[in-house]
Amino acid sequence: MKVLLVGSGGREHALAWKLSQAPSLEELHAAPGNPGIAALGRCHPVRAEDGEGLLDLASSLTADLVVVGPEAPLVAGVADELRHLGVAVFGPSAEAARIEGSKSFAKDVMHAAGVPTAEALSVARTPCVIKADGLAAGKGVFICREQHELDTALREATAFGDSIVIEELLDGEELSVFAVCDGAGALPLPAVQDFKRIGEGDQGPNTGGMGSYSPVAGVGAEDVEELVDTIHRPVLAELAERGMPFVGVLFAGVMLTADGPRVLEFNCRFGDPETQSLVPRLDGDLLELLVAAAGGDLSSVTVATADAAAVTVVLAAGGYPAAGDVGTPIEGIEDAEAAGALVFHAGTALQGDRLVTNGGRILNVTATGESVATARDRAYEACELISFPGMRYRRDIAAVAHV
Ligand code: AMP
Ligand code: GLY
Repeated sequence: MKVLLVGSGGREHALAWKLSQAPSLEELHAAPGNPGIAALGRCHPVRAEDGEGLLDLASSLTADLVVVGPEAPLVAGVADELRHLGVAVFGPSAEAARIEGSKSFAKDVMHAAGVPTAEALSVARTPCVIKADGLAAGKGVFICREQHELDTALREATAFGDSIVIEELLDGEELSVFAVCDGAGALPLPAVQDFKRIGEGDQGPNTGGMGSYSPVAGVGAEDVEELVDTIHRPVLAELAERGMPFVGVLFAGVMLTADGPRVLEFNCRFGDPETQSLVPRLDGDLLELLVAAAGGDLSSVTVATADAAAVTVVLAAGGYPAAGDVGTPIEGIEDAEAAGALVFHAGTALQGDRLVTNGGRILNVTATGESVATARDRAYEACELISFPGMRYRRDIAAVAHV
């Protein structure tokens, strides 16, 4: 099989790493990929947002499957255009991707499907949460406990240009729950927890994610099955009934409140950096799973999960999340790999044959072990072997058995 993977982050490197182990893989291509992915397949200089470029590339490669990593091309309708060309795609149509692209659409679907979510409020009064309705790269959500936070939130959320959504403020542990979907059915993947804030102890501004781990204590396979039954399957049925079947990964951000699980948001793709802790725990053939979903029939495949735990630590630029870093040499990746860690590239580039920084989140260091504690120790030992000026990372990823 020839596979074209769209995207350039740590999530895509982790997917490429797992896909490259599949017996039926003949060629792995990426658009645009990154230097880590380039060690596993061929990278092409086509941006993930360049729909036309992706169509041309998929045709010229005669790709058997296109796997779309990030949300922007999905919301923009790249999967639809590829399907029109007759190419199998793992990723939802633009209509189904609105489950991530529009928070008000997601709320409407959840209400119709009877899925528990934070209640929408008609008046903005503290405590509450203000959300920009459209895609905002994780920066459109404002938690408002005090009046001055609400004033700022209203100003900043409306600056995104879309309408806003006002929600009740919920309290509890957060969980990322993924299911691979074929339009009608859903296969649960292991639950993962990620760490969104820049600072230790969950302080400071939100980021794209500073680390992740799996399994999450108290959330075993049966619990995930129950969550998928309560959340993902009713949403899938509702979308199918509306004539927009969802094919790809449906990712629910769930808060486990004292009153039960509540959905905070849906994403129409794999999580980043959750995927980096998820794929090392999957036994078996990821390509077979994605091909079956893209073909609209998951009935012949299963997802086997290894007992091993995985922990991922994000190594970020010194100024992240306010600013990234470009062109600073990175040392020590081979040492970290020799110590047994997986090092997934996120914001890196090659200058000649020198690896340098190229973004905010630069690398993801993932380690596995028989327990979260062992995996965590290994991940941090490997982090210490890597260096670049300004490098920062959280020292408390997976430190507390949260749930
Ligand atoms: P979202 O992009 O909707 O997942 O929101 C980003 C983060 O904001 C979530 O991971 C939560 O930590 C927080 N959040 C979102 N909605 C709520 C809510 N209704 N109550 C409390 N926290 C929330
Ligand atoms: N880590 C959260 C996300 O991928 O949206």
